[in-house]
Amino acid sequence: MRSLPWWKEAVIYQIYPRSFYDSNGDGEGDLPGITSKLDYVQQLGVDAIWLSPFYTSPNKDGGYDVADPRNVDPRFGNLDDVKALIHRAHELHLKVLADIVPNHFSDQHEWFQAALLAAPGSAERARFHFYNAHADGTPPNNWISLFGGPSWTQVADGQFYLHLFDSSQPDLNWDNADVKEDFEKTLRFWLDLGVDGFRIDVAHGLVKEDILENHHDPQGLSNALRLDYPMEPEKRNELLLTVPYFDRQGVHEIYRDWRKIFDSYGDREIMAVAEAWVHPPINATKYVRADELHQVFNFDLLTAPFEAAHLFEVINRSLELNATVDALPTWALSNHDSPRVASRIGDEASRALSLFVLALPGSNYIFAGQELGLPDGELHDSDRQDPSFVRSGGLVKGRDGARIPLPWSGDSTPFGFTAGTPWLPISQSWQSHTVEKQFKDSASLLNLFRAALALRRQYLLASQEITWIESPIHGSKDGSILAFTRGAFTVVMNVSDQSKEFNIAGEILLASSGDFQVSVGKKLLPARSCIWISN
Ligand code: GLC
Ligand code: CA
Repeated sequence: MRSLPWWKEAVIYQIYPRSFYDSNGDGEGDLPGITSKLDYVQQLGVDAIWLSPFYTSPNKDGGYDVADPRNVDPRFGNLDDVKALIHRAHELHLKVLADIVPNHFSDQHEWFQAALLAAPGSAERARFHFYNAHADGTPPNNWISLFGGPSWTQVADGQFYLHLFDSSQPDLNWDNADVKEDFEKTLRFWLDLGVDGFRIDVAHGLVKEDILENHHDPQGLSNALRLDYPMEPEKRNELLLTVPYFDRQGVHEIYRDWRKIFDSYGDREIMAVAEAWVHPPINATKYVRADELHQVFNFDLLTAPFEAAHLFEVINRSLELNATVDALPTWALSNHDSPRVASRIGDEASRALSLFVLALPGSNYIFAGQELGLPDGELHDSDRQDPSFVRSGGLVKGRDGARIPLPWSGDSTPFGFTAGTPWLPISQSWQSHTVEKQFKDSASLLNLFRAALALRRQYLLASQEITWIESPIHGSKDGSILAFTRGAFTVVMNVSDQSKEFNIAGEILLASSGDFQVSVGKKLLPARSCIWISN
């Protein structure tokens, strides 16, 4: 069987703790809730879970505003609950990844509170980026926060501090020895508690350059960084090639030091995956050089249109680029920061694409609810909590739609998620999406995922190579079919909105569309569908 490290081709299930399962009726998911549902996770057939932050936090940015990185927020439970969760996960042979947030702390962290009380130039302030205002009172530079508005906020004595995100998330100064030391302590703290690795938040952002210089086009840069913002590719390219606060050389030194810590845990095969939005794409591979991290997210499929040429390009590029550093790609169609794939490209296309990418070499990240085909929830503006909604004055709707709690059972909202009122409303239209219903329905997406994960584990992982047989540059170049072989299987996807003939020699093992007649010979592949065939 496979001799690869566990994470090499792992399927990792992302849990947003607040939205998974509420064990105590307060309307918010929590750690005991997750533990109680780990059997469900295990039955999906995934290898690991990644938990979005559950640390002490005022929750201004969904917990990515950490006030104590070595403790648990009471809304989620306590440290014993984490231990119990890890223990149960390991009993079920599931690995556990924690989310570490090294770019910033919450303004409620004791360091920042001390910095506010301390004088300009003090050791307390040196852990963050505090600078004096210009003579005319304006901030040290003109950078714009990723959530909108200036990335500087002024404190009582007139100094400004830098925050790439919300004003409640002061950026840490990674040139400061205390910062480096504290994060190494945090890594060891969770590793000693039993976690198997980390997802590293904003991994590309830790080092800033030219912090006292204005950017020539701050608004343009801010727009270019918003992937949903329409912009000429040349213009975006020009702006993204040098972002003074992203993907600077210095970040790699940090991860080389972290890697030594991970490796010091020997047989436990600790792994880390970087959230690094970098440009051009080749830069992402630097994060997975042999002495750095193990994986880096590939975000191409979060925004890719359902088109053969585009999908082929981004998939093939990722395979080729990762091969240059002897790494395998990662694939993700949804996460807590982006629209859910079923809403973005439609129900059928998202089923097809899910099946397609599950067959590709590399790791798959599945955002909880994706296996249920959840769309983005419908929300009134008054329900929205994302700081990007608030800071942009409502211009950006924000990420709450993808963070609606999961529907578990029953026929009426909130579908077993909570005995109370869910923190975001769950639409009654999710009635057919519940775990309970989908488990019973052999044609459900949930059961398709389970079948795909089981076949993947059993047959696909034997080989890390694929051979394209249909693409814009392979086979008939018809432009509507993407197909490859991997080991014993052939995987075929029809991206067009018409059914297409395809010569099928082997047995059809899985089909994303129920309309497909399972038989042998030249068959019609339904519009927007994917099949796995045995060779
Ligand atoms: C990452 C997280 C996102 C958060 C941001 C700031 O991008 O995924 O949810 O808002 O970092 O911490
Ligand atoms: Ca709760």
